[in-house]
Amino acid sequence: MRKIGVLTSGGDSPGMNAAIRAVVRKAIFHGLEVVGVRRGFAGLIAGDFMPMQLGSVADIIHRGGTVLRTARAPEFLARESQEKAVRNLRDQGIDALVVIGGDGSFRGASVLGSYGIHTVGVPGTIDNDIPCTDNSIGFDTAVNNVTDAINKVRDTATSHERVYVIEVMGRNSGHIALAAGLAGGAESILVPEVPYNLNEICERLERGVKRGKLHSIILVAEGAGSALEVGEALKKKTNMETRVTILGHLQRGGTPTAYDRMLASRLGAAAVDTLLEGCYGKMVGLESGKVKVTSFDEVFRQKKEFPEDLYKLATILAI
Ligand code: F6P
Repeated sequence: MRKIGVLTSGGDSPGMNAAIRAVVRKAIFHGLEVVGVRRGFAGLIAGDFMPMQLGSVADIIHRGGTVLRTARAPEFLARESQEKAVRNLRDQGIDALVVIGGDGSFRGASVLGSYGIHTVGVPGTIDNDIPCTDNSIGFDTAVNNVTDAINKVRDTATSHERVYVIEVMGRNSGHIALAAGLAGGAESILVPEVPYNLNEICERLERGVKRGKLHSIILVAEGAGSALEVGEALKKKTNMETRVTILGHLQRGGTPTAYDRMLASRLGAAAVDTLLEGCYGKMVGLESGKVKVTSFDEVFRQKKEFPEDLYKLATILAI
């Protein structure tokens, strides 16, 4: 192996830059050449490549987003586009590719594998819905962003004695909602993994008011429903003054936490090691503090476990 490529794909996540930096610097340390692919699989199809040197990744470890930019590229599903991408990689003399992204990106990497392109995946998504790793890059930063938002909403919620319903991202998973809800002391957390009953949530709100609570915060994972609808229903049922805040893409931006930078640095470097060891079609993850390499097929077979115990704890503590 002489030359490797690196790309970021799907929704950006804070820490992707630290991962790119680790891939580039670890590869150069081992005497490899590195080429960056701009705009993920879309750039692969278009042949949008840039040579990467040590200096190309200087001053990016602390920046959110991705300097390689990213895209969702449904066009990659077409065989013609896949063949074009493979041709472009071969023309560049790229022997292997590190793909930083989520499940969809790994499926793309796996397709490249079927054409004989060696790929390794690095989990980068705020949703934390990738199995075989405790956390994906960006999750910790997103949770901190949401916790910070809850703190701010709490100030105004207390002042006005209101109920706030806050909608957070996560696609079909409730990991962000659970972690931020626990850290932010939310009264109720609605996630797609656990069925909920609006009447129970109302009873909880009413009990809180009787105990002298000045505000309540309900966190709704986008996969569990719409905060606007939940807010409307709670208002109707309890007659309490209710406001809705949808955090949206604010959650995905900003400087990555130290945890995400460390995770990204370790996983980016581990991806290069994995390629150098001649292992392909795999994802590198971190479990209980140790790097773990798992085949894409195994990652696709498993479902990320939802920490039910933490969910129960959050419910007990918000009693
Ligand atoms: O997968 C990351 C994520 O931020 C999800 O939480 C969210 O549902 C989705 O991406 C939003 O996608 P887009 O940025 O394309 O609107």
